[in-house]
Amino acid sequence: MKKIGVLTRDCAGINTAIRAVVRTAAFHGIEVLGIVKGYDGLIDRDLIELDRHSVSGILNRGGTILKTARAKRFLTAEGQNQAVKTIAENNIDGLIVIGGNGSLTGAHILATEYNIPVIGIPATIDNDINEVSMSIGADSAVNVAVEALDKIRDTATSLERVFVVEVMGRDCGYIALQVALAGGCEEVLIPEKETAMENICADIAEGSRQGKKSWIVIVAEGSAKGSDVAETILKKTGLETRLTVLGYIQRGGVPTAFDRILAARLGSYAVEILKDEQTDMCVGYTDKKLITIPLEQAIQPKKIDYERDYRLIKILT
Ligand code: F6P
Repeated sequence: MKKIGVLTRDCAGINTAIRAVVRTAAFHGIEVLGIVKGYDGLIDRDLIELDRHSVSGILNRGGTILKTARAKRFLTAEGQNQAVKTIAENNIDGLIVIGGNGSLTGAHILATEYNIPVIGIPATIDNDINEVSMSIGADSAVNVAVEALDKIRDTATSLERVFVVEVMGRDCGYIALQVALAGGCEEVLIPEKETAMENICADIAEGSRQGKKSWIVIVAEGSAKGSDVAETILKKTGLETRLTVLGYIQRGGVPTAFDRILAARLGSYAVEILKDEQTDMCVGYTDKKLITIPLEQAIQPKKIDYERDYRLIKILT
């Protein structure tokens, strides 16, 4: 293997992973081409050379130095053929794709339908990559959200209000559950569990009768609209209710030490196994071990084990 390509989505820790890929490749005498703007860059032949020096100083920077895009053109056969042409024209022997479900699905297509050697690295705040306990970026997202929540709690307590806080996570309740547990929140709505708004409102009203003054309700974006939840609570309880949508602050920013270490391990391991001619695999770090999972399995819907944390949130409230 003489030359590899690397393409990414964006979240905290991805730059750390790019650095690990480039420096591990350099260690083995392998050249690296960075693909600019994800799959669009493969279609548009937008590539840059990356060496040891081009990745210095990026380890703690959020986002991706390679930029990224939601590449709709790659969903078409025409786009895929053009991407494969770019790979051949540039003598790329293998590809490392760093990202979430969509990016890894693209990687699986390239490996299975076009015979391109590809390894995926899970990197998404949603933490929805199947069989992988932690994706790069998820820990940073939870930490950002908890920091914001601590500030919101100050206001909730001072003004004796209900706060509804909507967090990201697409169809996965991981961020919401972790944030609710770390932030000592009263209620959490996640896509994995059906929760009747009537019950939530009844709990809040009962708490209010018993003298409780403030609440924080976490809403995973995949379970309901935060604005609808806030409106219902106000209507049913009459308590002053405010909404905060945390949004993209959860995706950017400085990666936590956990994410940096994960990104260093996975970035390096991905190069090692690509060099050893493995393909169509996703790397992970689970139970203190580096693991590989077929990409086909990694992109299946992940079932998170929410019952224990959900119960704990209720007990500790
Ligand atoms: O997958 C990461 C994520 O931030 C989700 O949590 C969110 O639903 C989505 O991306 C937002 O997508 P976009 O960046 O295309 O607006």
